[in-house]
Amino acid sequence: MSTLIPSRRFVTLGQFIIERQADFPYAKGELSRLLRDIGIAAKLVNREVNKAGLADILGEHGETNVQGEDQKKLDVYANEQFIRALGAGGECIAIASEENEDLIEISSSVSQNARYVVCIDPLDGSSNIDVNVSIGTIFSIYRRRSEVDGSARVEDFLQKGTEQVAAGYVIYGSSTMLVYTTGRGVNGFTLDPSIGEFCLSHPDMKIPQSGKIYSINEGNYAHFPEGVKAFIRYCQEEDTSTGRPYTTRYIGSLVADFHRNMIKGGIYIYPSTGKAKSGKLRLLYECNPLAFIMEQAGGLASDGRTRILELQPESLHQRTPLFIGSPELVNTAEAYMRQEQETTAS
Ligand code: AHG
Ligand code: MN
Ligand code: MN
Repeated sequence: MSTLIPSRRFVTLGQFIIERQADFPYAKGELSRLLRDIGIAAKLVNREVNKAGLADILGEHGETNVQGEDQKKLDVYANEQFIRALGAGGECIAIASEENEDLIEISSSVSQNARYVVCIDPLDGSSNIDVNVSIGTIFSIYRRRSEVDGSARVEDFLQKGTEQVAAGYVIYGSSTMLVYTTGRGVNGFTLDPSIGEFCLSHPDMKIPQSGKIYSINEGNYAHFPEGVKAFIRYCQEEDTSTGRPYTTRYIGSLVADFHRNMIKGGIYIYPSTGKAKSGKLRLLYECNPLAFIMEQAGGLASDGRTRILELQPESLHQRTPLFIGSPELVNTAEAYMRQEQETTAS
């Protein structure tokens, strides 16, 4: 008689979530189900992203596409998929999305006792869709403040980033990955298209303490604060002891720039500019989730002065400057920002 010793070649997102369930004895599985629902929607979005270049061909004659629906812009499609998945899952009572001015309340019977709210940027980097460059999804999960049984309120979303119970992103790139944290480290899963499953590929992700990459839209240079200009000059200076000059990498998809810097080490900055005093990026569904992930991976995230996770949100679509990445680089950039403040004050 031969004995079969079971061995696992890979761990899927679903298996991993179940194994980590014990980390949340209070959550009774709801958080796991929320993450599962987000993973399902991500696969549907991934399917559409992969054939984005075919949209015109499939939709020709201005009729319907292969699913029998009108062709829609991918960011609208992504928004619909995440709202549908979270609405059907029963764990989420309301959603704040970049695509909707007001919060979206879920009033299905299965969601009556839902205890979580989700903030989402369904498709990040939309300007890169047409040119076949990586795009993403960013999400953040909070426990609601309002009473279960009643309706959700905007206050459920206006919680500091320190209150997040989970956050993550999906990158639709040369491969598709889902990366998330529940406050116990960061884990990354790569979609294996042959089996349609996200498989654990990047366990316990850590950002290098320092790095040689700085990512910023230098086209806005003239409008940057003096501290940012001084930091850029520092990055460009020759100094062999610190490996400078550093190198610029800027994709224009926050998720893709963030993901690269997480793996290679570096800093991403979207500062205030002359036109936009609070920068461009949104606190609730871009900066807070990525700040939570970054800190869990050993990095830092600030608005140039204050830790992102400690900013008090005042509105759903609030913007904030963002300095995020390897701790040594963020500390240096903040030092230049402080110097600027001191010079202006004196
Ligand atoms: P979104 O596509 O969700 O509106 O986000 C776009 C954001 C972000 O992904 C990116 O880092 C940034 O805009 C790029 O802005 P600039 O073109 O001003 O550099
Ligand atoms: Mn975005
Ligand atoms: Mn977006």
